[in-house]
Amino acid sequence: MSLCVLIIVAALFSATTTQFIPPYTEDCRADMYPPSGPTFRGAVRWYTVDLDSPPSDRWTALITDKKTDLVNMIQAIRDLANAFVPSGRLIELVDITLPLMVDTLPNPFSEEIKGIAAVSGIPLGEVVLFNIFYEVFTVCTSVVAEDDEGNLFHGRNMDFGLFMGWDVKNKSWIISEKLKPLVVNLDFKRNNQTLFKSTNFAGYVGMLTGIKPKIFSLTMNERFSLDGGYIGILEWILGKRDGMWMSFLTRSVLENANSYEEAKTLLARTKLLAPAYFILGGNQTGQGCIITRSRLLSIDVLEMDLKLGRWYVLETNYDHWEEPFFLDDRRTSAIKCMNQTTQTNISLKTMYDILSTKPVLNKLTTYTTLMQVSEGKLESYIRDCPNPCMPW
Ligand SMILES: *[C@@H]1O[C@H](CO)[C@@H](O)[C@H](O)[C@H]1NC(C)=O
Ligand SMILES: *[C@@H]1O[C@H](CO)[C@@H](O)[C@H](O)[C@H]1NC(C)=O
Ligand SMILES: *[C@@H]1O[C@H](CO)[C@@H](O)[C@H](O)[C@H]1NC(C)=O
Ligand SMILES: *[C@@H]1O[C@H](CO)[C@@H](O)[C@H](O)[C@H]1NC(C)=O
Ligand SMILES: *[C@@H]1O[C@H](CO)[C@@H](O)[C@H](O)[C@H]1NC(C)=O
Repeated sequence: MSLCVLIIVAALFSATTTQFIPPYTEDCRADMYPPSGPTFRGAVRWYTVDLDSPPSDRWTALITDKKTDLVNMIQAIRDLANAFVPSGRLIELVDITLPLMVDTLPNPFSEEIKGIAAVSGIPLGEVVLFNIFYEVFTVCTSVVAEDDEGNLFHGRNMDFGLFMGWDVKNKSWIISEKLKPLVVNLDFKRNNQTLFKSTNFAGYVGMLTGIKPKIFSLTMNERFSLDGGYIGILEWILGKRDGMWMSFLTRSVLENANSYEEAKTLLARTKLLAPAYFILGGNQTGQGCIITRSRLLSIDVLEMDLKLGRWYVLETNYDHWEEPFFLDDRRTSAIKCMNQTTQTNISLKTMYDILSTKPVLNKLTTYTTLMQVSEGKLESYIRDCPNPCMPW
């Protein structure tokens, strides 16, 4: 909590130059779907990633296509780093030290990252940085719900770029804006058949949002917590490497788990480098849960419970048994809209309405993803939050 407060207060300072008045909220939106208008920036393109090809080649087609956007993004990170440490020493450090780290990452991630650096021409250390900084500063909303006919829906807003430079003129986060052109849908194939699908950022090999058709859907949200927050990542850099990177775990679960229960066990028990929330949905009635993780283990699993009237589980970035930070209460808005929608009327369409309601939709929101496991469906939309809009 205290780290979260720190980050938010820092972000508040960088946002004080805007004329926003917190907290900016609105009535639950309706009839936003199919997506159009000022909150919809554009569609997300599909790419195939062939798991039968060597890790170093898998991303070639995608990176070749997205090279310019990726180079722009990396340049924005360099600019921020240089604004922070004007001597250019920070990027120098990244270029010298992070390439050494790439071989400490497990395969296939290590080989894939090297492949991406080779194809894009971006220095290896900067691609490594791009791949680890999602492990911090990701604030999101995820929800799994079941309608009264037993259909399961999983939705999420991906909010990224907090504290990463506020563009006063555009009233936007510099990094969030640069990420939007990098949003892609991925179809991971093995033996020429879809194994799982994901919404991701080009150049990033971990997973934050994905679906294994007919089996489960999975999203990860950041859990801010000082006990172990970034210590695990620091330990990894210093050589103590007995935990797993969170978004590598989600990808390996999407790749390897073959049931909802198996996915749940792996997500609950694998030792991690930092705390996280995993939001898991299944293909059968009652299969939906939030796993609250410390580095070592799951400290709480909140399951859907239809008998108790709990027909959805919803997670932002706070432990569900605690109050959210008062300057960042996306949770109450989202829950209010879920309640107002009712179980009878929940669907991908109404879920999109809820994820389009400010401040659930905010200046950090890069994309909205909607998933339905029984249909194997994943659809994503790039978002904008027109003024007035909360910075997070
Ligand atoms: C700010 O907005 C203008 C006009 O929409 C655009 O051309 C420019 O690239 C934006 N700048 C950033 C940093 O996003
Ligand atoms: C892969 O599947 C597609 C369509 O499902 C088919 O057109 C193609 O020939 C297949 N390729 C191989 C190598 O089997
Ligand atoms: C939503 O509904 C639940 C269950 O009926 C209730 O406990 C909760 O207070 C409601 N929350 C809001 C914000 O309406
Ligand atoms: C649910 O949807 C039906 C049909 O669209 C509508 O008549 C009804 O008012 C909705 N219920 C709620 C609680 O929004
Ligand atoms: C998933 O749900 C669909 C629709 O209810 C059903 O047809 C399918 O058999 C289920 N798959 C599994 C693996 O349970």
